Amino acid sequence: MLKFPIAQNLTELDRQKGNLLFSKEVTFLKGVVDILGLPNCNRIEVCFAGRSNVGKSSLINAITLKKSLARSSNTPGRTQEINFFTLANTNYLVDLPGYGYAYAPIREVEKWQKLLKDYLTGRASLRRVFLLIDSRHGVKEIDEDVMLLLDKAAVTFQVVMTKIDKPNKKELQKSIEKTQRALGKHPAAFPEILVTSSAKMEGIDTLRTTIANIE
Ligand code: GTP
Ligand code: MG
Repeated sequence: MLKFPIAQNLTELDRQKGNLLFSKEVTFLKGVVDILGLPNCNRIEVCFAGRSNVGKSSLINAITLKKSLARSSNTPGRTQEINFFTLANTNYLVDLPGYGYAYAPIREVEKWQKLLKDYLTGRASLRRVFLLIDSRHGVKEIDEDVMLLLDKAAVTFQVVMTKIDKPNKKELQKSIEKTQRALGKHPAAFPEILVTSSAKMEGIDTLRTTIANIE
């Protein structure tokens, strides 16, 4: 049996549940630069993690249907704070700085990478990490490092393949399979993956419903 299958097509009821949650108000709450600045753990929290430029901010904009809620950019390292967005009066969506690469002074990079690590491993209300993997590249060594970190901290992560509009079918299939194989080694991996394109709005409904189903 194939492990880590792609999440199945939604029933109409599932879709409605996702749409209902995401029809509620979304607002930017704050950008956190220090672990002491984190807001209270009183909402269902999910975050978006991944290498610089993988498409974290774009995905938040896609699921909320707000073009420029989260700042996205061609320059890797654009997001340098932990950005909290409130969704309805129940959820937090959290946009993280990317790891692995950045156009920024080394000391600054070290500072926000430590913040990222502390957040990912020590946040009580964090229900799930969406770990974004570029569908052209598959899982890289640095992604493996983050998965190991999450295994150790027993924080569930679900892989979201991004930018599926970019590779051709064969390349896409290959990188999905490579990713599924990599997940086999990680006890903290959620047993389904998601495949998305923010540019083409593919897989966005499924991601919304996935979030709506987390309690
Ligand atoms: P950092 O904050 O720097 O870590 O980057 P990020 O992961 O938030 O990536 P961001 O959303 O800023 O997107 C990076 C680049 O990829 C931008 O130029 C986006 O327009 C582009 N991009 C994001 N999602 C997609 C997608 O689904 N398809 C395509 N073709 N491009 C995308
Ligand atoms: Mg970003």
